[in-house]
Amino acid sequence: MTDAVKQDIGAAEFFAEEEIRTFDFDSQQSTLLHKFAEELAAIGGPQAPGAKSKASLAADQLMLSFSKDQCELLGAYSDGFVSALIFEGLQKITHARPPIELPDLTSLENRYDVLCLAARNQILLKLVDNNAFAYDMDNEGKLVRLVANFRGGGLIKINAEPQIKELSSHSGLALGPHTEAPYWCAVNAKDGHSPSPSSLILSALWNPSLEPTRVIPLLPILERIGVTNCLALTTGNFQFSRSDSFVSGKGADGRNVSILEFDDKVGFAARFNSYRFSVNDNASAFVKTAYTALCQGVGEATPAEYTLTQESAMAINNVRALHCRDVIKDNRRVLVRIFGLSKFSSPVVISEDPLLLQG
Ligand SMILES: [Fe+2]
Repeated sequence: MTDAVKQDIGAAEFFAEEEIRTFDFDSQQSTLLHKFAEELAAIGGPQAPGAKSKASLAADQLMLSFSKDQCELLGAYSDGFVSALIFEGLQKITHARPPIELPDLTSLENRYDVLCLAARNQILLKLVDNNAFAYDMDNEGKLVRLVANFRGGGLIKINAEPQIKELSSHSGLALGPHTEAPYWCAVNAKDGHSPSPSSLILSALWNPSLEPTRVIPLLPILERIGVTNCLALTTGNFQFSRSDSFVSGKGADGRNVSILEFDDKVGFAARFNSYRFSVNDNASAFVKTAYTALCQGVGEATPAEYTLTQESAMAINNVRALHCRDVIKDNRRVLVRIFGLSKFSSPVVISEDPLLLQG
């Protein structure tokens, strides 16, 4: 092997490591975050009017307690240079054990511990300059999404297991590598559609069987498939099917979208879903080859695995990394998810507080 090739491999490994970073809270910072999360939960969590400014003030206060290295790490994610940022050293919210069966969605959504986790996620997002938001046509227009096997589809059947399994985070089916919808554009609004989420942040209320979340940074894959394929992926030759989490009657299939785009502020931005995207039949051979190379690269990538608990959270850069998971084995697993909008994104705003975007 030549030295140049060795150097390339070394560099690729280095970049892959740099893509997923960990931010450690010390106990004082963690106590402060917990206090702010409880205060935010007390007014009703991220959905409550006023939560946005309260989360912002909390983040400002926390920033004062961080070291230069900690601030640099937050800045790197905020600037779009990191695929995922894991927050560790967080306080446990509740010591209560999960019940034998998964409670229904509404009762879970109103629990104080869920509101605390959601509030904490909103503050963590704000630390990386992301505002929590919802789309009008997704998750019933609500900011907080609970990820659990409400509609069955997991390894073990639930009571009243539906015949048709929903391919969304409300079922336990395995989900192949994807970024979060909508898929019309990634950074700037287009034709009345807001861009896809800049970030999603996840934490776990219960994860009794310690089932991991998987992240696949895209940069090493794009470097591997090469420049011609990447250019072909910037053309509007792809289509996608409608997501199962959309409000009934809203959201649609999409045609003539690109997978990659160049953006002056973030460099590259991607949208992709291994089980919803396809290449147009009439696309050129170059484009079809590029799509095959991307799918193959994604298929061969080794995802980074992380097991979420109450004491951790993970922000995923949704234009730089894919995420996926295996079939969920334990029906009591509940994750609390919020979408974040970065300082670079320009959406179509329906209301400011709580922040609601046109999808
Ligand atoms: Fe997802």
